[in-house]
Amino acid sequence: MQQITDRKWWQEGIVYQIYPRSFQDTTQNGIGDLQGVIKRLDYIKSLGVDIIWLNPVYESPNDDNGYDISDYRKIMPEFGTMADFDLLLQGMKERGLKLVMDLVVNHTSDEHQWFEASRQSRDNPYRDYYHWWPAEKGTPPKRWSYFDVDGTAWKYDEKTDAYYLHYFSVKQPDLNWENPKVREEIQDIMKFWFDKGVDGFRMDVISFISKDTDFPELPKKYEGDFVPFYSEGPKLHEYLNELHQKVLSKYDVMTVGEAPGIGLDKALDFVDAERGELNMFFHFDLMSLDREANEVFLMRKSPWKLSEFKKVHSAWDKVFAEKGWGSMYLNNHDFPRSVSRWGNDSVSHWYNSATMLHTFLLTMRGTPYFYYGEEIGMTNIKFDAISEYRDINTINRYEIIQKEGGDLDAFIENEKSASRDNARTPMQWDATAHSGFSKERPWLKVNDNYQEGINVAAQEADRLSVLHYFRKMVQVRKSNPALIHGDYELLRPEHEEIYAYTRTLGQDRFLVLLSFSTERAKINLDMVAFDTATAIISNASEAEQHQGKTFELVPYQATVYRLR
Ligand code: NOJ
Repeated sequence: MQQITDRKWWQEGIVYQIYPRSFQDTTQNGIGDLQGVIKRLDYIKSLGVDIIWLNPVYESPNDDNGYDISDYRKIMPEFGTMADFDLLLQGMKERGLKLVMDLVVNHTSDEHQWFEASRQSRDNPYRDYYHWWPAEKGTPPKRWSYFDVDGTAWKYDEKTDAYYLHYFSVKQPDLNWENPKVREEIQDIMKFWFDKGVDGFRMDVISFISKDTDFPELPKKYEGDFVPFYSEGPKLHEYLNELHQKVLSKYDVMTVGEAPGIGLDKALDFVDAERGELNMFFHFDLMSLDREANEVFLMRKSPWKLSEFKKVHSAWDKVFAEKGWGSMYLNNHDFPRSVSRWGNDSVSHWYNSATMLHTFLLTMRGTPYFYYGEEIGMTNIKFDAISEYRDINTINRYEIIQKEGGDLDAFIENEKSASRDNARTPMQWDATAHSGFSKERPWLKVNDNYQEGINVAAQEADRLSVLHYFRKMVQVRKSNPALIHGDYELLRPEHEEIYAYTRTLGQDRFLVLLSFSTERAKINLDMVAFDTATAIISNASEAEQHQGKTFELVPYQATVYRLR
């Protein structure tokens, strides 16, 4: 067990992620804005969460909704002004909420002035801010791009007869971290926001920042999967360590890196406090569980199994049992809604499965990250037509399949589960037009189920709502340090319907039982002494029922028992 004497605010806090474009529109242009977040601060505080992670709000041409930044020190006009930002931060400080911003520094927008200068001439002072491959050297070695319609990460640029590197869209050229000036610029940007009072950064694809700038042919072992190659850049840890020494160590802030390609074996290299790099990172093992191998956006044909789900979480818990700290999430702006994916969004199972998943996230070790709307059980929108989608990822992949003459119907079916737009639909505040998000037509359609009880106002008025359960469960976590810091022990790993585990800290011991089944399910727990067990929270009225050592759970039941 870790020493809990030096516990940190970012270990004990609960994060609430806001995708500002979809949260609350106050200017009535169909796009959420910073004033909208300000308007809802009391609501956010009422949830009991502590930290807001705001997706990018910087100036951007929005090729990838703000992940293509054209000025790191300006606010996107659609979202408001720097004065709005300052007010937001002030409003948060007044309420004791911390603010974590998104730091996107693997790449910029091609409309950033650095890139505009860089592409002017081969001897421009900004040339080496990016990765260029002169055409006279021939075609550059294959690199794969997430969002390119031709599937290549090198884009030919006529002006200087050279190719530039872009792991994401053609409008997101990768920065050259080999250049010390680039690293200094990034340090200055971080200081700029920290000096304003920001409390940390979520670092976008931070595992990709270091590249072997000789650009060798892709080693054979990575064929078919670029991600591990991208995340094993030769100087990655050197760069993170430098950021820590020069900037992060000087402030009381938190960092959470987005780390595709980083597996269990490398985890502590990032978050072992003695190494001085990051506090936490997001792994992708759960997010790829229901996907085909090496295909992050393609749904797996066979359904995922609960034993696999348990295995992922148990292995990650173990890695951080002595050192480092985990981050727990079930969805975000890149992945579909948790209740539709890990629970069941049918009318009969929606309430229980949404609250069961809240119980799960709030009884695991590691910092829990909730995504706006998760607290009311928002679901996937499952669009039927490509014209409804706004995400560059879905749109470009559609185009590729169309060009190749592939099966477009199958693709649309896949996107109903996989598309990032499932999780980006506007926040459902009430039952008025456009769910109270905006008075105008929103940039992305609102899910119709806002009229069927999946909205904040309806759930505020219903003591038995998903929202009220969420608040209650948050308080259960906060009043029981064992649920935050305690040892985790998995029981009955092979059980395919019920996830059972204990959390123990000193004299305190809890048993968590979660059903992932649409049927009633039984579990025998011989190994647990639960004669004195009392249910402290449950989403089912039959929670107290257990006979002998056998528990019977209703579909998607969640119950937390205090064992001592
Ligand atoms: C990861 C972000 O979460 C995603 O939304 C974005 O498209 C890519 N990085 C590129 O910045």
